[in-house]
Amino acid sequence: MKYKIAVAGSGLMGSGIAQVCATYGNEVILYDLTEALLNKARIKIENSLSKLYEKKKIDESEKDILKRLATSSDLKDFSKVDVVIEAITENEKIKLEFFANIDQICPKSAIFASNTSSISITKLGGVTKRPDKICGMHFMNPVPIMKLVELIRGLATSDETFKKVLNLAQALNKETIVAQDRAGFAINRILVPMINEAVWALHDGVATKEDIDKGMKLGCNHPMGPLELADFVGLDTALAICEVLYRDLGDPKYRPCPLLRKYVEAGWNGRKSGRGFYVYEKI
Ligand code: 3HC
Repeated sequence: MKYKIAVAGSGLMGSGIAQVCATYGNEVILYDLTEALLNKARIKIENSLSKLYEKKKIDESEKDILKRLATSSDLKDFSKVDVVIEAITENEKIKLEFFANIDQICPKSAIFASNTSSISITKLGGVTKRPDKICGMHFMNPVPIMKLVELIRGLATSDETFKKVLNLAQALNKETIVAQDRAGFAINRILVPMINEAVWALHDGVATKEDIDKGMKLGCNHPMGPLELADFVGLDTALAICEVLYRDLGDPKYRPCPLLRKYVEAGWNGRKSGRGFYVYEKI
């Protein structure tokens, strides 16, 4: 079954999700606040699709796939969608406002999925009049490449909604796992403390950043070292998840490393800002 899907947020995750939704035959509206952000996302999607087409990893050319992808900076365009996948900034207040807002605009039958990496799905559903129609759909970065989607049921998520979201994830050619609606769900409950611990190791002078990353890559066969991965997902995102784990689970073992906080205070948020633990060419 093909859907009309609105993807909210055109950053790393949102643009990847929109790309994958369009690739597998769905009509997509990619939403963000400004045309400038949307143009940047469109270029990123075009580049990714043409790379995948060249390598014969997808059957349709980017031109044909992009015919199914519209962009919009007007939430009124959500008035006829079947599904919204939210991938806006990882900030609880902003997400709550967003869901309350689109609840007024979208058809009553529309399903809401959130790509939040750590915020309670139950809470997001609680600000809408359709808490039974919301589900967590946590994609991994880079979305067009990574096989997994983590699905999270809120307290009120209905079986019907869950089944639809599961079917959608499978129709996007993804494997799924199911996690409970607890801080960080399953993936980030494990991944983010590892990243935070790597920052602590750097902070404590245990090893250089290069050796921490080399150690985990060559010693544990991780595709990226933890500090490189932190730069890849965004240090602001990693810190935000760490804060949620620390606050909601109440265990001091989740305390964010002050060095991680300092980097975020400096605006050194990783690849997207040109500097994190490493320095990048600005994109
Ligand atoms: N679109 C199309 N193709 C892409 C792409 C994209 N967005 N990103 C990477 N690729 C392709 C490359 O072209 C390359 O293709 P090839 O093998 O056919 O030449 C292939 O993917 C591998 O890329 P690279 O050669 O550039 O580099 P790597 O071999 O290092 O692979 C990687 C890149 C797949 C990102 C790999 O380093 C990796 O798996 N890293 C870990 C990623 C990870 O852990 N993601 C999860 C993050 S956590 C998260 O997302 C949750 C959130 O809530 C925090």
